[in-house]
Amino acid sequence: MIKAIRGMRDLLPPETSRWQWVEQVAREVFGLYGYREIRLPLLERTELFARSIGADTDIVGKEMYTFPDRKGDSLTLRPEATASVLRAVLENGLDKGAGVKKLYTLGPMFRYERPQKGRYRQFYQINCEAFGVDAPELDAEVILLLLDILTRLKLGEMRLLINSLGCPDCQVKFKAAMGLFLISREGLCEDCQRRRDTNPLRVLDCKSVHCKEILKDAPVIRDYLCPDCTAHFARVLAWLKRFGVAYEEQPKLVRGLDYYTRTAFEVVAAGLGAQDAVAGGGRYNGLSQALGGPLLPAIGFAIGEDRLLEVLPKDLGQENQFKVFLAALGEAARDRAFHLLQELRQRRVAAEMDLEGRSLKAQMTQADRSGATYAVIIGDRELEQGEALVRPMRAFSYKKGEGPKLTELPSGRIVENQERVALKDLTALLAARARE
Ligand code: HAM
Repeated sequence: MIKAIRGMRDLLPPETSRWQWVEQVAREVFGLYGYREIRLPLLERTELFARSIGADTDIVGKEMYTFPDRKGDSLTLRPEATASVLRAVLENGLDKGAGVKKLYTLGPMFRYERPQKGRYRQFYQINCEAFGVDAPELDAEVILLLLDILTRLKLGEMRLLINSLGCPDCQVKFKAAMGLFLISREGLCEDCQRRRDTNPLRVLDCKSVHCKEILKDAPVIRDYLCPDCTAHFARVLAWLKRFGVAYEEQPKLVRGLDYYTRTAFEVVAAGLGAQDAVAGGGRYNGLSQALGGPLLPAIGFAIGEDRLLEVLPKDLGQENQFKVFLAALGEAARDRAFHLLQELRQRRVAAEMDLEGRSLKAQMTQADRSGATYAVIIGDRELEQGEALVRPMRAFSYKKGEGPKLTELPSGRIVENQERVALKDLTALLAARARE
């Protein structure tokens, strides 16, 4: 048997209904904040990511799925969405005009990382990007939007970590200081020894325990921020405070991508182990120009859906759709049931039936497994009388405040709330109950 690729998994029902629910909530919240959806190709020219994410990052250095196409052009399966969104914005002139342009996109990303809990090679992000405005109010609004989504999803314990990475001028000064600090340190990992010369800021993102130890008393970027960047960050924090958002300043937070300027943030959740970041983002005011576009301030974030679903309550968003199962016995009853089935669906009631002429017992088992709210039983006798038996299958189908009514069947079995309904009224009645 051919199996799925390592680090790439199948998302199966009923788990997929939790995913749909998360995405539905995200879409609703995006709508409230004025965001519209953009859908993008999964493949881009390799250069797009190499130029935006940064040559010294793990993503570009080790984790991209890169291959030549049949003409020899180097293509890459997107490891993130921000660079693609910006490419599309510039290519389609979406940056034109005054004011903020707001876009969101959902979908899979690909990184060749070592698979472990909460880390996959194909994973899913909910991505938010806003362009054209440098005001700190937008930073605050984007963070409020992120927290709004996570709160509505009932994510329990979470922490917002925040830092400012300054503008390119601040970063030049900070990198020089960091370079000096690192010169005298022994024992950096191989990657960090290289980064010491190429991009000392990257060293702060190293996961090695030893490098982390060395960095304990490293300089922090906060001390190198210019007055404008200091004021911007102070204002972002002031807004968060005014909205009662609990945040933790993390002077060493740098994120795993090089394009960030000024505000950078992450949300970490309890219960995820080592891979505890459920979302991350920040400003990237210089990226448009780095890609050959105009000056275009921008900020955004991405939520890691796989990790988020890991920590959200298991029963949230589970299927509890109103459903009907038609159990028919005999050919004539089956014919009639098939028509009723389609009629129910036309009335927007989810409905299924057995298509193989199986026994009543088998059909009732199937009704139960399908999660039906009601089973409708039609045999030859019912057909003759123009009636069907409607049997509640789920406790929540009881009318509010009423207990179950018990009926004894001819077989002596006791069933709850079973009723006889005229076939001509059946679909209208069930459609009305579905709306209750
Ligand atoms: P990122 O921090 O690389 O940022 O990814 C965002 C989130 O995606 C992470 O916090 C994590 O939840 C999830 N994630 C990343 N890698 C994996 C993986 N291998 N398996 C499962 N989940 C993963 C970005 O991608 C930026 N583009 C975010 C952004 C948008 N910045 C500005 N705009």
